[in-house]
Amino acid sequence: MNPGIETMAFYTPRYYLDLRTLAAHRGADPDKFYLGLGQEKMAVSPPDEDVVTMAAEAARMALEGVDVSSIDTLMFATETGVDQSKAAAIYVHRLLGLSTHCRSFELKQACCSSTAGLQMALALVAQRPHKKVLLVAGDIARYGLGAAGEPTQGAGAVAMVISAEPRVIAFEPEQGSYTEDVMDFWRPNYLEEALVDGKYSIKVYLRALAKSWEHYRQESGRAFTDHDFFCYHLPFTRMAEKAHLHLARLNQLPPDPDRLDREVEPSLLYNRQTGNCYTASLYEGLLSLLETSEGNLAGKRVGLFSYGSGCMASFFSGKILPGYRDAIPLDRGRRLLEDRTELRYEEYENFYEHRLPTDGSAYAIASHQTGAFRLAGVADHKRNYERVEVAAVKAVPPPPQAVPAKKAVVA
Ligand code: COA
Repeated sequence: MNPGIETMAFYTPRYYLDLRTLAAHRGADPDKFYLGLGQEKMAVSPPDEDVVTMAAEAARMALEGVDVSSIDTLMFATETGVDQSKAAAIYVHRLLGLSTHCRSFELKQACCSSTAGLQMALALVAQRPHKKVLLVAGDIARYGLGAAGEPTQGAGAVAMVISAEPRVIAFEPEQGSYTEDVMDFWRPNYLEEALVDGKYSIKVYLRALAKSWEHYRQESGRAFTDHDFFCYHLPFTRMAEKAHLHLARLNQLPPDPDRLDREVEPSLLYNRQTGNCYTASLYEGLLSLLETSEGNLAGKRVGLFSYGSGCMASFFSGKILPGYRDAIPLDRGRRLLEDRTELRYEEYENFYEHRLPTDGSAYAIASHQTGAFRLAGVADHKRNYERVEVAAVKAVPPPPQAVPAKKAVVA
């Protein structure tokens, strides 16, 4: 059997902003967000949640029932890194209590580093089948209050246990790759918000899709119709719809009004409720497909397109395995999304504007709803994480005390 995913889990912050609320404050037609972008809600992380706590929580769930002593590598794909030098993976390693013999490092190439990590992990477990890799991907997408990209913001993390004996999906070895030096989306070290040329980014995304698909087609000999479902990188869900119709046209398929509903729609449901999770969004889409589709998907082939601005892209495929329904609790994602607290606009702004001190002073962060881990505070330029009781659902606290915003702070 080809290697693949043994278990996987998704986590998103416990707070969200309805995009109707955002539309009302931006003087926009809510249909532009709901229909034009295909987004309904934006996950918003509270001050004591960052990529480390999100990824650790996703990993905690993914590791349920897994023998952690077999995990010898932890990879963390993110573009919301909390340090320029120390890998966020090392905090996650400690929070999860992994073996000191498990190496841990961070990966970066915009939203595509999770796929680069996946492909590395597949090679590692093929070489050493008795070992497993824990791959986590997580991000907080920030474009700025009032920016064109604001309604596509979001947050979330996915964790996957990559193994030579997968239960969820086995990936096929052929892949199509594409790299081109473009400036469609980037974040210089001194900025907290991404810079984006959104319309150009859509064009480059579609070009990278065409090129990596063609490369994959040549490598694999497979046709479009050899795939039952397609999962795309999801900066917003309408992007996947555009991408799928583009790919169908390139493959000269006759128009089919049910194509999107049949082949793509199940993978969009979670992202529509969370917004963009950058590195995690393709895999959030895969989980959405697996968890929300009716019927048994075992044996179905999924085509996956990963795009990371800047840019690098990859088209690859996998076959869903008979054990997937036992390997992932099928209602976990839906419950997580339903059990969230809606923010008023002012609360969203307060969360968004919250900053950590950058002068090394000690700062304790008020407690909000999180997963099993939270960022308790900072002192001496060091982040302090703690484990918390998740069963206790807390009320929405008053807005956090904002530290005056400064440039060049950690995300
Ligand atoms: N009702 C329904 N649809 C509406 C609408 C309304 N009242 N008003 C606008 N729309 C549609 C537009 O026609 C457009 O759809 P189309 O692309 O199919 O034509 C869509 O809503 C978006 O409108 P647009 O005017 O293009 O939005 P924008 O200029 O505010 O920016 C992005 C859209 C995606 C460029 C912006 O959100 C962005 O920069 N996002 C972040 C970067 C990103 O996601 N890049 C993608 C590749 S990774």
